[in-house]
Amino acid sequence: MRKSCMLLYMSILFGALSAQQEDKMQWFADAKLGIFIHWGIYAVDGTDESWAFYNNKVPYEQYMSQLSRFSAARYQPQEWADWIAESGARYAVLTAKHHDGVALWNTHQLHTAAKSPLSIPQLSPAKRDVLTPFIQTIKQKGLKAGVYYSILDWSHPDYTGFRKDSARYSIQQDPARWKRFQAFNQAQLRELMEEQNPDLWWFDGGWEHSAEEWNAREIREMLLNKNNNAIINERLTDNGDYGTPEQNFPIVRPKEKHWELCMTTNDNWGFQYKDKNWKTPKEIITIFADVVANGGNLLLDIGPMEDGTIPQEQVNILKELGRWNKKHEEAIFNTVPGLSSGHFYGPSTLSKDSMSLYLFLPGNATGAIEVKGILNSVKSAEIVGASKICSTKVVGKISWSAKPGLLFIDIPSDPRFTDPMMTVVKLSFSEPIKIYSGTGGL
Ligand code: GLC
Repeated sequence: MRKSCMLLYMSILFGALSAQQEDKMQWFADAKLGIFIHWGIYAVDGTDESWAFYNNKVPYEQYMSQLSRFSAARYQPQEWADWIAESGARYAVLTAKHHDGVALWNTHQLHTAAKSPLSIPQLSPAKRDVLTPFIQTIKQKGLKAGVYYSILDWSHPDYTGFRKDSARYSIQQDPARWKRFQAFNQAQLRELMEEQNPDLWWFDGGWEHSAEEWNAREIREMLLNKNNNAIINERLTDNGDYGTPEQNFPIVRPKEKHWELCMTTNDNWGFQYKDKNWKTPKEIITIFADVVANGGNLLLDIGPMEDGTIPQEQVNILKELGRWNKKHEEAIFNTVPGLSSGHFYGPSTLSKDSMSLYLFLPGNATGAIEVKGILNSVKSAEIVGASKICSTKVVGKISWSAKPGLLFIDIPSDPRFTDPMMTVVKLSFSEPIKIYSGTGGL
C-alpha cells in the first residue's frame, strides 16, 4: 500500500478526518437513507446479476442473450425519482455497469471481440441511454446522485477473470494486455465523470486485484480533480471515503467514521421472478433505525423489471418508509448516534445540539420503558408525530449521590399514539444531555 493511501485508510479507520474531508462528508452523514438500484439485462430472465454466468448457473451466451430482450419499454425515470424522493431518501445510486460489463449509458469504449461498445443504447431494443435521464432527474429533485461502477468486467476481452473456473490470463503473463484494460476502465470512468458528474461513486468488484493493479489512487485523483466534493466508497480498494458492509448488520459500530449498509428488499439485488422473500416495511424500518443509531446510512436496494417497472412490493416499501420518515423526520435526519449499548434496549439518536434524545421502541414496546444513566432531568417525553406527552418517573435516585436513578417512561398502548411500524419517543432536556456510564453503586 502506498504511503498516502495508507494514511487515508488509517484516518478513515480511526475516525480522524481532516476538516475538509469532514465538510465533504457532511451531506452523506446527514442523509441516512439512500436507494440503490440494480437494473440491467439480468432482469430479463430474472437471473443473478452477472454472477449467473460467473458461477456457471447459465452459459455466458445465454446470459448475454438477455441484451437483445432488454426493452426499457415502461421506463419512467421521473416516476422512479418521485418514489425515491417520497421514501425520504436523500440519494440514489444506479448500476451504470455491473460485473457483466453492460453499460447503461452510451459508452464509446470498444469492448466486445466484435470491437464495438457493450451497452444498452447500442445493442438492446431499448436503443437509448437509460442512465443519464435518471441521474439528471435525481439531481433536479435536489437529491444526490450516485453512479455504481464495477471496476472488474468479466465480459471484457482484456480483463483477467471470466468465470469462476476459467480466467483469461494473469497480469504477470501479459502486462500489456492489463494496461489496455486499465486504459479502457479509465476511459469509461472519464465518460461517466464528464457526462454525469456524480455526487457519489459506488465502486464494486475491487476484490479481484490490489489497489496498485487497479491504479486506484490515480482513479481517485482523476475523479476528485473533476469534482473535489465527490464521495467515493471504499470498494475502490484502499482509496475510498466510507465503509460498505453488505447485507449483514454490523453488530458493533463499525470502525470507519462513515459507513453505509447496503441491503436488498428481498434476497436479490436485481429483479428475480421467483424471489418473493420480501422484507416487510416494519422489518426494514427496524433495521433502518438501528443503522442510523449506529452512525451509518442505509442504502436500500430495489430491482426494476427489464421494462423499467418497479415491483409493487418495492413501491409499497418506499411509500411506507416515506410515511414513517415524514412523521419521524426530526428523529432520523441530521441526527447523530444516541446512547451506547447498555443504556436502553433499542436504537436511539441525538439532535446535534444534544438537547433531544430519540428512543426507537423495538417491536413497538409499550408500558414502562427503562432508560439508564441520564444525568439530566427530563423536561418532557413526547411521542414523535403524535403530540402525546408521556409521564416519566425516576426510581432509585439517592438524593446525596451524583449517580442518576433509573428513568421509566410510560408509553400508552393506544394506537392513536403509537406507530404501526415503530414508535419513537423524544426526551427533551433544558441543557445538553449528560450521560453516566459507570459501574453503578452509590
Ligand atoms: C456484491 C455483488 C454484487 C452486488 C453488490 C451490491 O459485491 O458482487 O452483485 O451488486 O455486492 O453491494
